Amino acid sequence: SSNKLLIKGGTVVNAHHQQVADVYVENGIIVNVQPNIVVEDDVYVIDATGKFVMPGGIDPHTHLQNEIGSMGIETVDDFFSGQAAALAGGTTMHIDFIMPIDGNLTAGFEAYENKAKKSCMDYGFHVAITKWDEDVSRDMEILVKEKGINSFKFFMAYKGIVMVNDELLLQGFKKCKSLGALAMVHAENGDAVHAGQQKMIEFGITGPEGHPLSRPALLEGEATSRAIRLANFVNTPLYVVHVMSIDAMEEIAKARKSGQRVIGEPIVSGLALDDSWLWHPDFKTAAKYVMSPPIRSKGHDKALRAALATGLLQLVGTDHCAWNSTQKALGIDDFRQIPNGVNGIEERMHLVWDTMVESGQISVTDYVRVTSTECARIFNIYPRKGAILPGSDADIIILNPNSSFVITAKSHHSRSDTNVYEGRKGKGKIEVTIAGGRVVWENNELKVVPGAGKYIQMDPFSYLFDGLDKKDVIYLNSLQAPVKRAKSTT
Ligand code: URP
Ligand code: ZN
Ligand code: ZN
Ligand code: ZN
Repeated sequence: SSNKLLIKGGTVVNAHHQQVADVYVENGIIVNVQPNIVVEDDVYVIDATGKFVMPGGIDPHTHLQNEIGSMGIETVDDFFSGQAAALAGGTTMHIDFIMPIDGNLTAGFEAYENKAKKSCMDYGFHVAITKWDEDVSRDMEILVKEKGINSFKFFMAYKGIVMVNDELLLQGFKKCKSLGALAMVHAENGDAVHAGQQKMIEFGITGPEGHPLSRPALLEGEATSRAIRLANFVNTPLYVVHVMSIDAMEEIAKARKSGQRVIGEPIVSGLALDDSWLWHPDFKTAAKYVMSPPIRSKGHDKALRAALATGLLQLVGTDHCAWNSTQKALGIDDFRQIPNGVNGIEERMHLVWDTMVESGQISVTDYVRVTSTECARIFNIYPRKGAILPGSDADIIILNPNSSFVITAKSHHSRSDTNVYEGRKGKGKIEVTIAGGRVVWENNELKVVPGAGKYIQMDPFSYLFDGLDKKDVIYLNSLQAPVKRAKSTT
């Protein structure tokens, strides 16, 4: 088959600029971007007249073939089905979370290397830190220096499972800083969540509505504020994953305003849903929407969209962590046993377009920034990813603004039997996805090959570290000369 491709006549959009141009691709790399490129007959030509030609989406937050959020059962989507779904929805790379095995990072990394062998699109990894000792500290160094890892996630919730305390946060942040790696947090006060859950059960609230009631937005705000202040104390950048509430968003906005390097990641479920579903009388319907931090009440969604539009929040993820209804039913008598997580890897690009661009809240260039370019910049893979420029990987989507999409579990590509966006319709349809120069989605048909996806190594010290004091001293900036005092107090 041809390894040459020409996309003709579309509006090529990057985060900084858009123009009508052709895009010429050879052997998986973008070779030329300019109007009226002339090519030989052996080139596969796609007409993009009247459509947007944009960098493929990069999802910074996914959980494929994972046990996080459950009691030891695995999510339904693995690296093949989850990525196939992603490609059908215009996402061409994702960054998944490696969970350590009994706290061991190297064992975790090897396990995920194996899981990812069937990948049909490019992927990278973050690594979760769940305990602290010399082995963990050494493994972090090996992962950064030899294995292409430049970010570590700390869970401030899930008490008794993966939750870390403030002492570990400080040790971890300090280590991240010394390595030039980005510290990430799941920000909820896990001790308070635990107490909230006990209270709900005492009250006799065992259904899915007990989930949001037990972990209100103020607990997300508290943990976000604490993580931001601890990162400030260590003087290292911080990335807050799945920002679900006004409370958390305002903490991030405040810190950014003061000049601190904090990144806030809203996710599609937080931007496009509200918690009313969790009170649905049918357990199966309500349980679909159980995830942590919870989907908040109406109003938070709107505020998060506004924060994304004004740049208070930087990029959109999904936290794709898909279960089927049988797995969700494990919590029929106790909401604490409902596996946490919702789908989104296939829906993100369409829903961000429909809710943000089609609604007039952001420009098309901003769309590219929040769905692709910003992620590439933060994780230090720009402009290989996140751009349509000569030399960039040929990860490209073609979106028709006049065509429409419909979301339903009947035709989605996830292995889940349900979809939290069931029945959603909108304008702006991704008609073509090109991954690594291969046309993998066209005419509503997927052509994916297991093993075709590459592991993308990510180097430490992204722009977030530029000009930052790299010395391994806590709060050096505020230290002043010690006060000299006389020995005697008499
Ligand atoms: O409920 C969720 N979010 N499940 C995935 C794990 C996490 O906390 O991101
Ligand atoms: Zn050919
Ligand atoms: Zn989380
Ligand atoms: Zn997550």
